[in-house]
Amino acid sequence: MKPKVEIFADRSQLIARALALTLAEIKDAIAQRGRCTIALAGGNTPKPLYEQLAIQDLPWQAIHIFWGDERYVPISDPQSNAGMAANAWLNHVAIPPENIHPMPTHSADPAESAQIYDQQIQTFFGTGSNVFPSFDIILLGLGPDGHTASLFPHTAALQVCDRNVTVGNKDDQPRITLTVPVLNQARCILFLATGANKQEALTQIFAKSADSAQYPARLIQPINGKLTWLLDAAAGEPLQEYV
Ligand code: 6PG
Repeated sequence: MKPKVEIFADRSQLIARALALTLAEIKDAIAQRGRCTIALAGGNTPKPLYEQLAIQDLPWQAIHIFWGDERYVPISDPQSNAGMAANAWLNHVAIPPENIHPMPTHSADPAESAQIYDQQIQTFFGTGSNVFPSFDIILLGLGPDGHTASLFPHTAALQVCDRNVTVGNKDDQPRITLTVPVLNQARCILFLATGANKQEALTQIFAKSADSAQYPARLIQPINGKLTWLLDAAAGEPLQEYV
């Protein structure tokens, strides 16, 4: 399915649209399947969206929160994606603790943590080890280098296609990340990207041909799901023709 590109004058309009789309997908998932599974992005861009979700009146018992990636730090660390979402959103709503599924980061071996999360996903979705689960919503950000989740350029994680979760690597710092096949199995992917420093990566991601190893977000092409890019004017400047 062709990606949808929406460009907004500023970040607040982008966040308002991201909220509307997320709420619509949550409602649709619960109506159709009795629950909604959403994998969150880290970084800075989605924080205002999480703050908006914190003031919504939703059936929290039917919503399950996962992460698309995590820095390999404790949840109390300012770098933690789970910590950011908890402070901005999850600590402020009546979501059952068992509905929040953070990526483990306590093992000395990140590969062991990736395996634990993979097993948790298989158990939750009942998929076993040879079927990739379909998250209802996956929120993704974009780095200036074209990375998304913790799929960084020219790293081994880009090639992992036989499991749900693997170890990412940013400047020799371990990360935990969902793999490309899991991301591409999503029913709805929302990319949120702002800032002129994302223009180059976006140009390459949308180019007819470019190196996906150099710009890993090119690998995100949902098999059956919807892919929407929500950009502010600064990031979206080179993509006017795609709107
Ligand atoms: C992370 C993210 C990462 C992020 C991009 C964009 O753990 O950092 O998941 O993929 O989405 O780096 O980050 P910003 O939103 O801060 O630009």
